[in-house]
Amino acid sequence: MLTNDALDALFPAHLAVLTETTARALEAAGSDALVIGAGFLQYRFLDDTTHPFVANPHFKLWAPIDNAPGSFLVLRPGYKPQLLFHQPEDYWHKPPVLPTGSWLECFDVQVIRDPAAARRYVPAGAAFVGEPFHGMEGWGFGTVNPDPLMAVLHFARASKTPYELACLRRAAAAGARAHRAAARAFAAGASEYQIHLAYLAASGHTEAGLPYPNIIALNEGAAVLHYTELQSEAPAERRSLLIDAGAQYRGYASDITRTHAAAPGPFADLIAGMDALELKLCEMVRPGVHYPDIHLAAHRLIAELLVTQRIVNCSADAAVATELTGVFFPHGIGHLLGLQVHDIGGHQTATEGGTTPPPAPHRYLRLTRTLTAGTVVTIEPGLYFIDLLLAKARGDARGRDINWQRVGELAPYGGVRIEDDVVATADGAENLTRDAFAALA
Ligand code: GLY
Ligand code: MN
Ligand code: MN
Repeated sequence: MLTNDALDALFPAHLAVLTETTARALEAAGSDALVIGAGFLQYRFLDDTTHPFVANPHFKLWAPIDNAPGSFLVLRPGYKPQLLFHQPEDYWHKPPVLPTGSWLECFDVQVIRDPAAARRYVPAGAAFVGEPFHGMEGWGFGTVNPDPLMAVLHFARASKTPYELACLRRAAAAGARAHRAAARAFAAGASEYQIHLAYLAASGHTEAGLPYPNIIALNEGAAVLHYTELQSEAPAERRSLLIDAGAQYRGYASDITRTHAAAPGPFADLIAGMDALELKLCEMVRPGVHYPDIHLAAHRLIAELLVTQRIVNCSADAAVATELTGVFFPHGIGHLLGLQVHDIGGHQTATEGGTTPPPAPHRYLRLTRTLTAGTVVTIEPGLYFIDLLLAKARGDARGRDINWQRVGELAPYGGVRIEDDVVATADGAENLTRDAFAALA
């Protein structure tokens, strides 16, 4: 793992890439300057408390500051980037503090006491990127989130700089550490809520600091893809744990899923089969690969697992052809990962824009692009026993090919998903998640 100084040393080259992309984006929009708003604290309805602040990802891309409501960036080709850091004079709350680090030297920093003070730094006619805000009409922006500019910025986000990859490795490390603590809590008989607390403590995050709400499901709960209930009571019988939980470093996320069986047996075998096929799919991540092909390969491998685990009575070919695999694997194989857990631009056709929808019937697939060096994706095959989908299959021709007795045996375990974060590199796949777990060993 890099030292903090070595990580900071990568930052100027990261900024050089952003500067080049921004110049192209401004050209596409016919603008000379770009202003990026971090966003504002949002108050709850009829209340004086706010939702947790989440900065505009375009802001975080430039400035790794989590707590920056009311701050702005002013970017003009040929000029040092300007960071207008909002630090109110406030004795009710602790005002945001600028993080330290040599990355700050890349910016001309101005502290503003009121967001409105940013207005005088806005170049006339600048493009604005961010959530529109009250009163911005008088600030002289030429355009707000214009499509041609956004298209260039979004398309470029898929491929990460060495600085971003270093941040993602740290996010993977924190996630792996916390997953290990969660697995220990499960083995000790903890409830979903207690596993969640163990995860938070080991990750070093508050709940608001997680990249997405933890999915921690015991037993049948694992059949709910985004299960976030967190029961405080441990069930009488502990059979399985599915935990989908990540961590963040400088705004970059990890997105990791592991499934555990409480004891050896058919469900543990299913996990082992899923783990093996997931690794095969991860190996497919390399430049030039059309991501939907990984999704289709997942259906093929899951069909084979359904056959070897005697969950279906037909052949793997037939399970794919009749879309029977979709009953058990009803989501996409993964997505772009970065500043957002589902990073933007997954369906974008080209830097100029355009949309490539997923191939029918795989409408849930979030990524339809061809991978390039530095693209970071998740690979997350799953196999679940979902009442709703099983009931539908029972009612049509697919039901005849399902081994209902086997489904009955496995349904109390909910389901299995294994999810890793993987970089496409010229040398093949770099599996950030597996590397992070291996480093803990
Ligand atoms: N944690 C959400 C997902 O895996 O996409
Ligand atoms: Mn994911
Ligand atoms: Mn996930």
